[in-house]
Amino acid sequence: MITRLEKTLFRLEAQHACLTWAFEQIAGKPGPIFELGLGLGRSFNHMRHKLGERAKDIVVFEREVRCYPDCQPDEDQLVIGNLDETLPAAAKKYAGSVVLAHSDVGSMDKEHNAHMSGLVSKNIGPALAPGAIIMSDLPLDIPGCTPHPLPGNAREDRYYLYTKTG
Ligand SMILES: C[S@@+](CC[C@H](N)C(=O)[O-])C[C@H]1O[C@@H](n2cnc3c(N)ncnc32)[C@H](O)[C@@H]1O
Repeated sequence: MITRLEKTLFRLEAQHACLTWAFEQIAGKPGPIFELGLGLGRSFNHMRHKLGERAKDIVVFEREVRCYPDCQPDEDQLVIGNLDETLPAAAKKYAGSVVLAHSDVGSMDKEHNAHMSGLVSKNIGPALAPGAIIMSDLPLDIPGCTPHPLPGNAREDRYYLYTKTG
């Protein structure tokens, strides 16, 4: 059995490892990067910091912005609204161009998580570029995408990684 503390630790460890791996994979592959779920802005802050000049390529989705002040995205990179509506619209707008999507939209509510898994799985596909990387706090089932083993020491099932293969 793993404790709640260990679950959080392992999830964040895996998230960090996936981000590090993903940044290496997308080097030299231009295109937008999706951050679904700004939350407190921790992962966005990390992405923005590590991606340097490419930080401007990050598009952040959130229904209610309540992040740390130093994690606030620029207004023009923020899509405010419910992903039920904003994700299908963004998938059309960014069709076939997104090289990395980080989905971190889960909560402690099982029903919410099931809904978000389905929503992201169903709607993100058309946005993705060939070979795109999708990393998620929830398991996804995206048509044309294949699960990818987690990098480094990340523990399986603490985060989920996929690549667009089809
Ligand atoms: C776990 S938090 C994200 C944590 C963030 N990545 C961080 O590092 O601080 C999940 C976020 O997803 C957002 N979210 C959940 N469901 C959503 C929906 N249907 N539409 C838009 N945002 C949603 C929540 O408002 C919340 O801020």
